[in-house]
Amino acid sequence: MTEEEIVKKYFAPEHIDSIKNFNGRLIVTLKNIPEQAAAAEQLKAELSVLDGIKKVSIVFSQTSQPAGMAPEIEKWRINGVKKIIGVASGKGGVGKSTTAVNLGLALANLGQKVALFDADIYGPSLPTMLGFENTPPISYDGKMFEPFQNFGVKAMSIGSLIDRNTPLIWRGAKACGAIEQLLTETNWGEIDVMVIDMPPGTGDIQITLSQRIDFDGIVIVSTPQDIALIDAIKGVNMFKKIGVKILGIVENMSYYICEKCGHRADIFGHEGARQTAEKLGETFLGEIPLHIKIRENADNGTPIVMAEPDSPHTKAYEEIAAKIIDELK
Ligand SMILES: Nc1ncnc2c1ncn2[C@@H]1O[C@H](COP(=O)(O)OP(=O)(O)OP(=O)(O)O)[C@@H](O)[C@H]1O
Ligand SMILES: [Mg+2]
Repeated sequence: MTEEEIVKKYFAPEHIDSIKNFNGRLIVTLKNIPEQAAAAEQLKAELSVLDGIKKVSIVFSQTSQPAGMAPEIEKWRINGVKKIIGVASGKGGVGKSTTAVNLGLALANLGQKVALFDADIYGPSLPTMLGFENTPPISYDGKMFEPFQNFGVKAMSIGSLIDRNTPLIWRGAKACGAIEQLLTETNWGEIDVMVIDMPPGTGDIQITLSQRIDFDGIVIVSTPQDIALIDAIKGVNMFKKIGVKILGIVENMSYYICEKCGHRADIFGHEGARQTAEKLGETFLGEIPLHIKIRENADNGTPIVMAEPDSPHTKAYEEIAAKIIDELK
């Protein structure tokens, strides 16, 4: 019998969302049914003995709760990881991924064992920024995913499981199920700090991730304009409502220094994030200038913290990283 035929013995076709085989690591995603642990266990046992199958995971992508019962929100277990911080923004395109990656590398420069995790289903960019191939993760022992490693940090991206040209099909619970798989079934080893690049915004996916990931704190990235700051405030409020600590706000693309004449231009305004942080009673973590090298290095796979370790930009990231280490104590 094929994998699909076996799954169909247990679940009706309308509940089978996908059956994917990554080098012998089989992930069956079911939809629109409450979790059925006993059937899942039997199905798992039956699939596990098929030729070439090393590990089977069954994901219920939409688990409906009986009416009147408040869902018990259980945190995902991410083995070996001591602290987890999320890098989030209310608005897309403000430099969240650039900040997450450089911050991760800056934390590593300060002696931390770092893992970077790209949870941005709308636009995974870690593979590009860290220069690893966007191929499915390699299986380790046939049971766990093996993280990518570059510049002394470990990394995993949801971009490894999805076609980056069509990420929109990965909406909702299905995306969360895939993120859970990658987070909990990767062989991270010993990690002091995991930095998670969150999807931008404050929708259902962001809320679910914030409830399920055992965050020690969130770094909010914003550019200085009002429009970005309004969304940053929404982000801060969302995390607070869920009970996740805000580590502070970073102002990205804060100012521009002309390389030729040294003139400073506050292209998007300046200090907006600092003032917003003060108003909200949150920590202002620091400012990162708008600089062409930050963009170029992010795009070519060697982030500025690695490409130019002595630059003032790297120092700026390291100062923010030091504050974060302090806050995590
Ligand atoms: N401080 C900076 N100076 C110059 N360019 C920057 C800076 N920060 C980010 N960029 C550039 O701006 C663009 C958007 O940044 P990035 O991809 O990090 O944003 P994002 O918030 O993760 O976006 P998305 O919401 O699409 O995931 C990228 O081309 C990046 O290289
Ligand atoms: Mg991004």
